[in-house]
Order: sequence, then structure tokens, then C-alpha cells
Amino acid sequence: MQHVHVIPEEHYHEAADAIRQRTPVRPTIGLVAGSGLGPLVDEIENADVIPYEDIPHWPHSTVVGHAGRLVLGTLEGQPLVAMQGRAHFYEGYSPAQVTLPIRVMRLLGVNTVILTNAAGGLNPNFSAGDIMVIEDHIYIGGMTGSNPLRGPNQASFGPRFSIHTRTYNPTLNRLAHRVAEQNGFTLRQGVYVGLSGPTFETPAEVRMLRGWGGDSVGMSTAPEALVAYHAGMRVLGFSSITNLSLDSTEAREEVSHEEVLRLGRQIVPRLVTVIRGVLREMPPYDPADVENYPEA
Ligand code: HPA
Repeated sequence: MQHVHVIPEEHYHEAADAIRQRTPVRPTIGLVAGSGLGPLVDEIENADVIPYEDIPHWPHSTVVGHAGRLVLGTLEGQPLVAMQGRAHFYEGYSPAQVTLPIRVMRLLGVNTVILTNAAGGLNPNFSAGDIMVIEDHIYIGGMTGSNPLRGPNQASFGPRFSIHTRTYNPTLNRLAHRVAEQNGFTLRQGVYVGLSGPTFETPAEVRMLRGWGGDSVGMSTAPEALVAYHAGMRVLGFSSITNLSLDSTEAREEVSHEEVLRLGRQIVPRLVTVIRGVLREMPPYDPADVENYPEA
């Protein structure tokens, strides 16, 4: 059998216990701030900050633009745990390590996660600076052997064969659009393609992904969404479109990580408005919203 990295169940509990010992906050909402989106987390009130290195088994991000701190506090009255920076598969972490924080959030009492990322725009109607609500994803790693749920099923989190018809919560998606409209701007909506990275796509790959129905493309989010939804959590996802994907070898523009970070900073104020509005009007968690539950 091909090697699969399994995280023992007690590691998740050790991480959750270490967090509980550092803060009185008991979060129900989780937030993951993607590349360039770290300032989202600065909005949190009465914040307790825990550096990732203080949490056992927690993966550290090695990427510029990812701070590496867990922040617990409140936003719009909701108790929240936020990750300023995330670990990625391309850094060398296993899919199980990349998604450990999501399961730890679950153990802390989180029932809804808001996942954000920086992404390229595959959809030719998009512009750099747009925000896309993630309606669904195509997760190539997950389809081809790097699925974080591969290996023995840890049934206390969710079922062996998890169902993913509505991974990204349609009610929360509609709420996000409504909040944006009330504030005088619009959001895009579409399919996020999750790739392993760290290379940006070739023009041939861009044309292929577009043909497959992808609207944005990035190197994160999809494994986290699978693990969250497997564990019965609601997921709301946003791509910040930091660049348009280049579909021709004749293209003169270039993508760079610096540009991704710069555009991210421009997008933050609108994303803050949307996330605050969603938190203000967040409908209570309803088990009918999700398809997966732990096996009894
Ligand atoms: N491709 C993949 N990941 C990204 C991109 C991109 O064009 N932009 C920001 N993250």
C-alpha cells in the first residue's frame, strides 16, 4: 500500500487542549486568511494571539505573507478563531497536516468555517481585484490520490464516504452577495480549482482548467473544505482574484507572488465588509445544512 500520513487522533486533541489553556474564547466560527489577506484578522476584538509554534502538531507556514498566528476573539459579537497564515501542500506538508487546523477547530466547537485564498482568474470576465464566492471546487489532488481523507477513516470526525454535493453552503453564499449589494459592490461566483503548486499554471493548463469549468485557481482551500464538510461544518469560501490566468505563451504579463500580496491588500476592505455582514446575520447552524455526520 502506498504510504499515507495518518495523524493520531490524540494529536488533534493535544492541539485543541493547548489552545483552550491559552484563551477563554470558545469559538463557533473559524476563519482562514489566505495570501495577502492577513489584515482580515486584525479586525478581531479582545484578541488572544497564539503563535503556531506554541501549538503541538500545528503546521507552520514558511511562505512570505503568511504570519503564522492563531487569533481568538470576537467579531460582530461572534466568538471566532482565525488563522493568520496557513500551511500548504507545496511546502511539503502532508494533506493531513495541511488540514489538521480544521479538525482542531471542530474540537474547539467551531461549526462554520470561512476559507479565503488568493487565486488566479480563469474566467475571462473576471478582473484582478474581484472577489469570488466559491460555489464549488475541482480539487485535482483530491481526485488523484492526495485526498486528506485517504487512509483509515477517523469516524469520530465523519463518515468513510463523505458526501460533497453542497460543500460550500448555498445559504451563506447568498447572504454574502446580499451584504455586498447592500454596500454598493458585487461579488463574483464560481468554481475554484485547487492545485498542488508551487508552480503557477502553464497556458495549456489554464485553457484546460477553463474548459473544465474552473473560474478561479489556487493552491489551497479545497483540502480544508473537504475536511471541514466531512466533519459536518458549514463552509463559506472566497477567492480574491489577484491576477488573471495567462492562457497564451504569447502573453507579455507575468504573475508574481509580490503582485498577489499587493492586490490582496486592496481587496481586504471589501472582504472585511462582507465577512462582518455575514457574521452579523449568520443564520444559526442547522444540521439540515450539511450532509455528513460522525459515525455513531
Ligand atoms: N495560480 C495559482 N495560485 C495563485 C494564482 C494563480 O494564478 N494567483 C494567486 N494564487
